[in-house]
Amino acid sequence: MKLVFYGAGNMAHAIFTGIVNSNVIESNDIYLTNRSNEGALKAYAEELGVNYSYDDHALLADADYVFLGTKPYDFENLAERIKPHIAQQNKFISIMAGLPISYIQELLDTKNPVARIMPNTNAHVGHSVTGISFSNNFGPSSKEEVDELINAFGSVIEVSEDNLHQVTAITGSGPAFLYHVFEQYVTAGTRLGLEKDQVEESIRNLIIGTSKMIERSELSMEQLRKNITSKGGTTQAGLNALSEYDIEGIFEDCLRSAVNRSVELSNQDDEV
Ligand SMILES: NC(=O)c1ccc[n+]([C@@H]2O[C@H](COP(=O)([O-])OP(=O)(O)OC[C@H]3O[C@@H](n4cnc5c(N)ncnc54)[C@H](OP(=O)(O)O)[C@@H]3O)[C@@H](O)[C@H]2O)c1
Repeated sequence: MKLVFYGAGNMAHAIFTGIVNSNVIESNDIYLTNRSNEGALKAYAEELGVNYSYDDHALLADADYVFLGTKPYDFENLAERIKPHIAQQNKFISIMAGLPISYIQELLDTKNPVARIMPNTNAHVGHSVTGISFSNNFGPSSKEEVDELINAFGSVIEVSEDNLHQVTAITGSGPAFLYHVFEQYVTAGTRLGLEKDQVEESIRNLIIGTSKMIERSELSMEQLRKNITSKGGTTQAGLNALSEYDIEGIFEDCLRSAVNRSVELSNQDDEV
């Protein structure tokens, strides 16, 4: 299987590094290209054993999966570049936020299969939650191959193309929402009188440990919480204070705002 990455920026880097490290395919079967920053490609080739090239015909002639990893506003230029070289076997995987499958096919002037993925920055540590949506002509065995590639840098959920907006909100922007909550927790913690550095370090380790508990335990988050909440104890007192606020409603507002913005941006051909 041959993979080609058009665009080797921040997100594509996390994806091809995850794929190389997982040994799903040989690094020698991965090809990178970009607009002009050859230094970056050279560095990735040395670090990971992947190839790079600016010869579009050679890149595409026998490529199975072609990742489209430019910014959405650069896609018109990219489409002009690759359109004359598209081969019948090329299947496209777009990481560009907001660009519909029909628009990608139109600009590439092809009916070849196209998948859209919405990863998140946790791809850098192999833990992206990636939403995926396929064009109707994506065959079952190709879908399985793509799922395997995506599982190399985290987990995958298949949704309809319309529901990629929800995925964008919940897990695409999700890391930023959680960082924001953690920031508030640190700020509140420092008001209790401990040194700021101590609080930051403790909360960082608290978050890492709690994530590992969620990862390793078979219990639900609700049960994990109940297990450490004694009647009349300190945890119960803190949770009682939290229950005075509509936290669920706050997060619902947050996520609905992100969904609405995702819809707006995709209607404008703009970027997330
Ligand atoms: N960052 C995130 O958290 C995130 C999450 C989900 C989705 N996304 C999506 O991922 C995409 C890429 O974002 P990014 O942050 O990785 O961008 P980035 O770091 O700016 O990388 C963009 C890449 O595209 C290349 N490029 C531009 N025009 C090209 C062309 N005509 N032919 C070939 N390559 C071209 C650039 O090459 P040069 O360096 O040579 O200019 C660069 O390698 C975006 O569409 C974004 O919506 C990002």
